[in-house]
Amino acid sequence: MTTLERAEAAEHAMSEELDRVIVKSVLYTSGELDPTKPVTRPPDEGKLRLMGPDPRLPQMPDKPTILDFFTYRFAPANHMLQSARLAQKNGAEEKVVLACLLHDIAIAGFIRSDHGYWAAQLLEPYVDEEVSWAIRYHQALRFFADESVGYRYPEMYVKLFGPDYKPEPYIERAYREARDHKWYMTSRLICVNDLYSFDPTVQVRLEEFTDIVGRNFKQPKEGLGFDDSPTAHMWRTIIAPTKYL
Ligand SMILES: [Fe+2]
Ligand SMILES: [Fe+2]
Repeated sequence: MTTLERAEAAEHAMSEELDRVIVKSVLYTSGELDPTKPVTRPPDEGKLRLMGPDPRLPQMPDKPTILDFFTYRFAPANHMLQSARLAQKNGAEEKVVLACLLHDIAIAGFIRSDHGYWAAQLLEPYVDEEVSWAIRYHQALRFFADESVGYRYPEMYVKLFGPDYKPEPYIERAYREARDHKWYMTSRLICVNDLYSFDPTVQVRLEEFTDIVGRNFKQPKEGLGFDDSPTAHMWRTIIAPTKYL
C-alpha cells in the first residue's frame, strides 16, 4: 500500500467506525449530568456499538509501551518531565527520577480525583514497590510541610483550594502512616521536586528518560494492557476509553 492508499483506508475505517454508536461511561459525564437519571440519546436503532478503539483517538501500537502512552494518550506531560529533570539535577537516585516522571500519570491520562492512588495502582505490577508506594503517598504528603527538606505547603494550593481547605481525614491518616515509613523520603522527594509552577518555556524531551525507564520499568513483552497483569484492564481502558463493554 502507498501512503495515500493507507491514508484512504484509515479514513474509510474511521467513517465506518463513526457509524457506530459511541457511548460515554457514566464517570465521564457525572456531575455535568445527574448519574442517577436516565440518559436521553438520539435514536440509534440498528446501529452497532463501538467495541474497539475509538477512531477519534490516535491509534496505539499493538504492543504499547509506557512511553507510547505518554505519546498517544497522556495530556502534555511537561509537568512530569520537568519534575523528573529537576530530580535529576538535584542528584536524586534513578528510582526517584522515575517516580517523578510517573507521579501524575493519572491526571495526565486517567482520573484526576485521588490521582496518587490511581497512578500507584496502574504502575504496581511494573515498577519497584518503593516507587509505586512513593507515588501513592505523594497524594497525602503534598498537603503537609516538611521543613527539614525545605518543603512548604504549596502557595498554589491556597490559590486553588482557598485558605481554609483542610485535607480529608483519610489523607491525614495516610500522611501519618507515611511519615513513619521506611520509604517516607522517597515519597517526600516527589513533592520536593514537584514543580507547582513549571516554566512553560522549558521543553523537556521524553527521550531524555528512555534509559531510566528501560532500566526501571518492567515493560511487558505483550504490551501494556495485554499482559494479564492485575491492572492490564486499566491500561486497556486508557487505550479504548469508549468501548461499549
Ligand atoms: Fe500529584
Ligand atoms: Fe505533580
